[in-house]
Amino acid sequence: MQEATAVETLRLAGDTLELLDQRRLPAAVEWVRCTRAADTAEAIRLMVVRGAPAIGVTAAYGIALEARWLATSAEEFGSGLEAAFAVLAASRPTAVNLFWALDRMRRVWTGACAAAPAAVAERLLVAAQAVHAEDVAANRALGKHGAALLPDGARVLTHCNAGALATAGHGTALGVVRSAVAAGRRISVIAGETRPFLQGARLTAWELQAEGIPVTLITDSMSGHLMAQGEIDAVIVGADRVAANGDVANKIGTYMVAVLARHHGIPFFVAAPLATIDPAVADGSAIPIEERAPEEVTGFGAEQWAPAGIAVRHPAFDITPANLVTALVTEAGIVQRPDAAALDALLQAVRRRRPSGSPARV
Ligand code: MRU
Repeated sequence: MQEATAVETLRLAGDTLELLDQRRLPAAVEWVRCTRAADTAEAIRLMVVRGAPAIGVTAAYGIALEARWLATSAEEFGSGLEAAFAVLAASRPTAVNLFWALDRMRRVWTGACAAAPAAVAERLLVAAQAVHAEDVAANRALGKHGAALLPDGARVLTHCNAGALATAGHGTALGVVRSAVAAGRRISVIAGETRPFLQGARLTAWELQAEGIPVTLITDSMSGHLMAQGEIDAVIVGADRVAANGDVANKIGTYMVAVLARHHGIPFFVAAPLATIDPAVADGSAIPIEERAPEEVTGFGAEQWAPAGIAVRHPAFDITPANLVTALVTEAGIVQRPDAAALDALLQAVRRRRPSGSPARV
């Protein structure tokens, strides 16, 4: 079977980065246009674009757009580009892909700093396009690896949206589902709605429905009951950052689902590209957890249903300890029961691998 074409999350059109406005889906398909680093950072902060890999690709384009904008002024090029890195780095704290992409763009800049601004800008654009293309390729590769984990007929619970909309294409958790479907397996997805931003109800439901992959929506509080009833065979989620010991930061509510899955003996899989692994962070306790505005909890958009002035907590992510993760699926292969030793072995194997070599199961 031919692999389904996923929705487009972001695209470059001349001097403009166009982002599918994920705040408006599924009610409206609208595009937000960014031309500089500051408006790109604002789009990330407001969650026009969201999902760790998509944020990374967007930030890379933000640097490239700003470099192009600054290229006519040799005096302001360096300070302007520094400001661009700073504003993008401050847009959201948890997804390490943002910082990974910015580091990569900075290395390109450093490597080309003797060149004229226009030439540096050109190299930064080529680098951003490479980050974009590599994300799609990584998702397709991890999807193929992970598809082996989902047997024919599997009913798979996912949380948040780790699909095409959260990446440059194909998706991570939903990339695994897509690849399993493309391999001819009948897979159905149970999408947790994912309060408060409703990535499951609005985004996962929308993109799977658009491709004809069977999807059933539940509220977050229904997953334990469905597991107890024997209606869920596996859980698969994405990640915003994987610590060196395998602890996983992902959308708030993921930890709860992982505990439930362990209680019910259901495998809990995490699908993420290598760019999501942060070897500089020893364990999950060191991962910064974003706290977002109370208005996202007291209501949605203009509709506010909680009493005015109510005290609110809004951590947007949580940490799932590595010992609850059955396997981590990456483009370099599957790591069963990820821990510090297994992740170190994976990263070392990737470093040793010849560029032309095919990904090995690690
Ligand atoms: O706040 P969001 O919507 O950016 O959070 C997204 C998630 O938590 C995803 O699961 C994660 O980024 C992986 S996306 C492939």
